[in-house]
Amino acid sequence: MKKRILVTGGTGFIGSHTVVELQESGYDVVIIDNLSNSNADTVDNIEKITGIRPDFEQVDCLDFAAVEKVFAKYKIEGIIHFAASKAVGESVQKPLKYYRNNIVSLINLLELMPKYNVKGLIFSSSCTVYGQPDKLPVTEEAPIKKAESPYGNTKQINEEIIHDTIASGSPIKAILLRYFNPIGAHPTGLIGELPNGVPQNILPYLTQTAIGIRKELSVFGDDYPTPDGSCIRDYIYVVDLAKAHVCAMNRILDNKQLEPVEVFNLGTGQGLSVLELINKFETATGVKVPHKIAGRRAGDIVQVWADPTKANKVLGWKADTTIEDTLRSAWNWQVKLRERGIQ
Ligand code: UD1
Repeated sequence: MKKRILVTGGTGFIGSHTVVELQESGYDVVIIDNLSNSNADTVDNIEKITGIRPDFEQVDCLDFAAVEKVFAKYKIEGIIHFAASKAVGESVQKPLKYYRNNIVSLINLLELMPKYNVKGLIFSSSCTVYGQPDKLPVTEEAPIKKAESPYGNTKQINEEIIHDTIASGSPIKAILLRYFNPIGAHPTGLIGELPNGVPQNILPYLTQTAIGIRKELSVFGDDYPTPDGSCIRDYIYVVDLAKAHVCAMNRILDNKQLEPVEVFNLGTGQGLSVLELINKFETATGVKVPHKIAGRRAGDIVQVWADPTKANKVLGWKADTTIEDTLRSAWNWQVKLRERGIQ
């Protein structure tokens, strides 16, 4: 019998890629998503990729009764919780939206899990919890810094809620995955990142500029204390990231030695500056990206990249796709969107 995983936010960017990898690894999936920042077509596209249609329930994680119906309808073994609001800037404007959406959703799941005997939870956290780390590359032991935004704070608070719940005797186990900067799209070009309105994250802005939707990309700052003056991040291919979730789910369901809460950095271990990223994109695709140097963006940290050794050793996972292939996948997705008349 296949084990069934509940994926909240399963039609979103990282969620949809993870559903594909779960299905391809022999799991059944039920998605719950309120479609606030995604599209139901994604379920069709997942089916086109894997040949298997995931179950889909249009449910808001804030709606406790509706979520409970899903727990009652399906026999769920594990949960991957992606559903969350994620725009850093918007979270400063609308903090209560972020605190309600991101925190109450998690509380609902944690309350329902023991009642329905669901053992494992994987939580989408972020390298944002480290702020500007004192030492690079950053390990899981690095101190948590005061959050720069309500969005970042919800990730920290949710990590604490999970720790406190398990410490109080809840029978569940949890794995917290701290993502660095996920980019790229599935090689089929059928699923990828489709932000509402003007993209805030660099890759969708860059590919929209390369295809002519946007005039030019602003490089936010070239006067940082880095080799070329632009900020440095650890860009990780979303399919590699999705595969880490399968490794984490296998571990949580099968490994008896698991600690009640485990934390992993998911990154490549390589830092890349904004200017290097643009260069690599132009070389990998042969497409120019008009860009200009603009002022620094409030709240940006200077540089961060992961030490992924723990995930490599304990999860048996490694991000092994090259940055060139990753950037080509993002470009392929942007071109396919235009062919489909979406952008
Ligand atoms: C931020 C959050 C991260 C969150 C992610 C998803 C922080 C520190 N990080 O990542 O937790 O998960 O958003 O929403 O809050 N850049 C440009 N021009 C642009 C856009 C970005 O130069 O038009 C630069 C930024 O200055 C940064 C890099 O590109 O150096 C990456 O930016 P972005 O994609 O927004 O991700 P983060 O800010 O790193």
